[in-house]
Amino acid sequence: MNEQTYQNLAAQLRHPSGEAGIQTGEWMNRGNVHINLDTVEILNAAAGDTILEIGMGNGFFVKNILQKHGSIKYTGADFSEVMVAEAKRINTEWINNGQANFVLADATALPFADAGFNKIFTINTIYFWEDTVTILAELKRVLQPKGKLIITLRPKRQMTNYPFTKYGFTMYSKEEVEQLLIKNGYSILQSVEIQEPNFELNGEMVKMESLVVTAIKE
Ligand SMILES: C[S@@+](CC[C@H](N)C(=O)[O-])C[C@H]1O[C@@H](n2cnc3c(N)ncnc32)[C@H](O)[C@@H]1O
Repeated sequence: MNEQTYQNLAAQLRHPSGEAGIQTGEWMNRGNVHINLDTVEILNAAAGDTILEIGMGNGFFVKNILQKHGSIKYTGADFSEVMVAEAKRINTEWINNGQANFVLADATALPFADAGFNKIFTINTIYFWEDTVTILAELKRVLQPKGKLIITLRPKRQMTNYPFTKYGFTMYSKEEVEQLLIKNGYSILQSVEIQEPNFELNGEMVKMESLVVTAIKE
């Protein structure tokens, strides 16, 4: 892969678009199985939960949340048109039974009422947030008092090894994410660091880690 290819990949990961965006969504599902399923486990969806996910990509793992209980409601918000269309296509059954809906929206300005969700989560999106203050305030606005916000990411020490992250990714260590949340009015409930099985990237086996930070709206 040359630098132009890495730059294109970074742009697709930030904002999937067109046919390449659909393929990027499918590639992300393969590379992000563990990080998604580990986050779903920590999210611990239960009867009556109203859950918001920011940046769900094509929503392939939504079923793993909704099959836990028929009263769980899930909303996915993503600013990529092609990802919202794919998420709707993949989750038709869950939309039709009234448990899921998907909206085209930027996390900086969410089209939702105040305090409508008791759990919010987001996986592999924080690297792309240009205005963290506005986004964290917006998530706080739509979260119920004492509601949970889960931010999942690959930590900085892993991300810096990837050749595409120099193109527009902001990377965070555990301490940096925790400080960011505290500065923006959340308290930290727990941070879980997970070692995943190795993954083949560009012909090489790479070590995969994830970090799941759970915060509470104060
Ligand atoms: C790298 S993909 C991650 C997809 C999935 N969460 C995963 O981990 O496999 C990032 C996703 O977040 C979305 N995204 C990035 N910034 C966003 C923002 N400010 N508001 C809404 N969606 C955003 C992108 O469109 C993309 O679908």
